Amino acid sequence: MDKIRIRGGARLNGEIPISGAKNAALPLMVAALLTDAPLTLTNVPKLADVAFMADLLRHFGVTAEWTPEAALGQGGRYELCAADLTGTTADYDIVRKMRASFLVFGPLLARAGHAKVSLPGGCAIGARPVDLHLKALEALGAKVELADGYVIAEAPGGLKGANIAFPFVSVGATENALMAATLAEGRTVISNAAREPEIDDLGRCLTAMGARISGLGTSSIVVDGVKSLHAAAHAVLPDRIETGTYAMAVAIAGGAVELTGTRADLVGALIPLLKEAGTDVTATNNGLMVARNGVRPTSVSAATEPFPGFPTDLQAQFMALMATAEGTSHIRETIFENRFMHVPELLRMGANIKVDGDTAIVTGVPRLNGAPVMATDLRASSSLVLAGLAAEGETVVNRVYHLDRGFERLEEKLSRVGADIERLPV
Ligand code: UD1
Repeated sequence: MDKIRIRGGARLNGEIPISGAKNAALPLMVAALLTDAPLTLTNVPKLADVAFMADLLRHFGVTAEWTPEAALGQGGRYELCAADLTGTTADYDIVRKMRASFLVFGPLLARAGHAKVSLPGGCAIGARPVDLHLKALEALGAKVELADGYVIAEAPGGLKGANIAFPFVSVGATENALMAATLAEGRTVISNAAREPEIDDLGRCLTAMGARISGLGTSSIVVDGVKSLHAAAHAVLPDRIETGTYAMAVAIAGGAVELTGTRADLVGALIPLLKEAGTDVTATNNGLMVARNGVRPTSVSAATEPFPGFPTDLQAQFMALMATAEGTSHIRETIFENRFMHVPELLRMGANIKVDGDTAIVTGVPRLNGAPVMATDLRASSSLVLAGLAAEGETVVNRVYHLDRGFERLEEKLSRVGADIERLPV
């Protein structure tokens, strides 16, 4: 399995192109199941999870053709077409590898009237159940049963519009409900809907496919069902997690980098934290300029929240930054239990972090030390890369496949701006 080696201490200068968002691309690809007409997606990042989603869709008879773009950060184009659905079962072996596979549940049910999808099971970041997805589909009239680790659902007469009120915010359950409601008969109102930009992006694509949706970007989304959806083309929005991760790479390593092809509003909660920590962040015509020169970062406390709050997917990277800051910060994780797996690895690099329940208390040290570390999940792995940029000596990140799931050509993007980083194929 590949490793990534980083020699810390280099400042970063230049430009990093930001790719399309993984978390938007995955549900957008699934939306192809809702119609027998083609769906063309551009700015799709070239990532392991995206390739995996294409394989899952092929399993249901969807054709999925990928054309890469030559330029760094522009990913490629997927032409997807679900002219005939040849299957409606997603096996355990498929779903256990990627939780986002569960997003096929609502669209399969809406289009074919039945679906059998394996429960995702436990995963490294907490229990992560799918009860809200199931309740939403039941509200739309599906008969849902659990048997042998599978969710089996039927809606022979089609789904019917309903009021779906989520008890708390779930990105995936909102996406499943939104996609299914586009083909349900009558009006669906989704209350306490997630407001993440990826949901807005999905809603825009569904609208381009002929869906009738209002309230996107608010916590109350209204969908008036239509009989069928049609062909459309859609460009995936920029990846806000990649944007935030590279912004923090500059904050931790120092230097000045323009992040291009992205938008400041996608990382609205991170910008004031970075500024308070001593990093300059300014919006440019094409993205964001991030710079830190001279002084050591200052400690700032933060708590994760659903959008527009500070994202859980940036928590590990922010902790790496705070591990080098002057002072003590409290970082609270409110979305997932057990999302501090990066802490023991950061400790190996000389960080001073104590975990108390859902809060990590981070006292910055003047210098981290390079060490061999183990990537445990996608976002945790990127925090170790960031820590390696600031550490003295050599850091080797093992189990890099986690990074390949969510960061397109990470080592190439960082080495272009001056980081001493390389992939060691094994
Ligand atoms: C999505 C993102 C992930 C991000 C997360 C939170 C994708 C592909 N993944 O994951 O990167 O970290 O949002 O921003 O977009 N929950 C339940 N029951 C449910 C569903 C969720 O209890 O039926 C809980 C989860 O365990 C978690 C919380 O709700 O504690 C939020 O999860 P959710 O927003 O659903 O995350 P995902 O959609 O899985």
